[in-house]
Amino acid sequence: MHGLFVTGTDTGCGKTEISLGLMAAVQATGPSVLGMKPVASGCARGPDGLRNDDALRLRAQGSSKAPYGLVNPYAFAPPIAPHIAAGEAGVEIRLPTIEQAYRTLAGEADQVIVEGVGGWRVPLGPNLFVSDIPKALGLPVILVVGLKLGCINHALLTVESIQGTGGVLAGWIANQVDPTMLSRDANLATLAALIDAPCLGVLPWLEAPTPSELVGYLHPELIDLQPRHAAKLATTQTRTEARSDAGTGKRRA
Ligand SMILES: Nc1ncnc2c1ncn2[C@@H]1O[C@H](COP(=O)(O)OP(=O)(O)OP(=O)(O)O)[C@@H](O)[C@H]1O
Ligand SMILES: [Mg+2]
Repeated sequence: MHGLFVTGTDTGCGKTEISLGLMAAVQATGPSVLGMKPVASGCARGPDGLRNDDALRLRAQGSSKAPYGLVNPYAFAPPIAPHIAAGEAGVEIRLPTIEQAYRTLAGEADQVIVEGVGGWRVPLGPNLFVSDIPKALGLPVILVVGLKLGCINHALLTVESIQGTGGVLAGWIANQVDPTMLSRDANLATLAALIDAPCLGVLPWLEAPTPSELVGYLHPELIDLQPRHAAKLATTQTRTEARSDAGTGKRRA
């Protein structure tokens, strides 16, 4: 497995903190890891162009310093829905560009952790959604559930969409973004009973979360890649490779 795609129940549910924590957890066991944020809106303009905080943090946590343009091939200034930001910038977000950047990163590290943007069905263009990215890259998905009132509905709808459209849900992680949430444990028990994938961690609300602190709460070793899931990913991978070969005119023996 070369990577994981981190999605969430919403924007602000903790995808970046958990992606960084997962990177640290993998690094602690030896393998090299790079982070990627393929599409980001909400970027500051600096001397080298647009820069996004999530992408900078993922890049900084990487086992080596990847070029920014590979970590974040699509960067938009306004903090708005990405397809609207792309439209305003006159840019078409294209999967082959994301695939190419991902493949280059995957060639440089044992694993790549890819953070989505917003939630699972966020549009990226007229015919493109965040959910298309892990499928194109052949990546299993980790769902971050931001624990707050209403999260069970958001989590179950997202799980249904991932699993109902041929995605591989490798696991979910609960993240207490609301420090005052009532009945937290009962919510967790409901999520565990209704989500058909392993819980890879439960993060309490932390004053100032750091990747190394998160390692203690995360269990990537529980990632569910049962044979049925691995077979699904292999099929996706073959389809994706065939498509990019067709695009470059390459032929397989
Ligand atoms: N367990 C936690 N305890 C305390 N604060 C947290 C926790 N998890 C996340 N946060 C804080 O909540 C905010 C949102 O988290 P984060 O940036 O990881 O979300 P995200 O899903 O990546 O958001 P976006 O959609 O903008 O990418 C950040 O300020 C982060 O530090
Ligand atoms: Mg983020």
